Amino acid sequence: MKPEAFGPAVVAWYEQHGRKDLPWQQDVSPYRVWVSEIMLQQTQVTTVMDYFTRFMHAMPSVHDLAAAPLDEVLHLWTGLGYYTRARNLHKTAQLICTEYGGEFPRNAEALATLPGIGPSTAGAIASLSMGIRAPILDGNVKRVLARYSAEAQYPGASLATKRLWALAEQLTPQQDVAKYTQAMMDLGATLCTRKQPECERCPVNSGCLAYATEQQNVLPAPRPR
Ligand code: ADE
Repeated sequence: MKPEAFGPAVVAWYEQHGRKDLPWQQDVSPYRVWVSEIMLQQTQVTTVMDYFTRFMHAMPSVHDLAAAPLDEVLHLWTGLGYYTRARNLHKTAQLICTEYGGEFPRNAEALATLPGIGPSTAGAIASLSMGIRAPILDGNVKRVLARYSAEAQYPGASLATKRLWALAEQLTPQQDVAKYTQAMMDLGATLCTRKQPECERCPVNSGCLAYATEQQNVLPAPRPR
């Protein structure tokens, strides 16, 4: 499978099998996608759904969030845990309003300078909400690409992480970037799971080096200890 064929194959799979009804996939905006991605960093989709809906009801715009007392933001976060996320959310909303005229910067590099937004979350916001071609490499996508390239090292090791970012960059298509990003997350969450991946159903199994060498059950390599 050529690198150019990867994106279209993943997108075609998404059209058939991907999730399209999540709350943050309706009325897509940088604000809504940002809040959802921060919630999804350490909390699973089923839990995030209700919190996201309540949050958007209370804070419909970045201006509402910036103007709200921190207490109120923390209250909306109660139960989600990792409260640094809520503090950073509030801080970033204020920065967007004071330094960026209330508009999210339109590139992943600038997004990644904001509190709580790492390189992968920046790529997700840029691609999902702005249609900007930007790679992502969250935990799920790391696993997909570590298997696809049969990365021998633990993906958290710095050299392996560098290689996986380069591969993520290379495989991200020019077209359908929002669908592609969502597709990669869904692929990692549903087929290319940590245990018992369903390689027979995978749209890119013909290019996957782990599958070709029957290593899908031993890759990604565990953290050395
Ligand atoms: N995990 C992180 N981002 C996600 C998204 N946009 N959809 C589903 N799961 C996710």
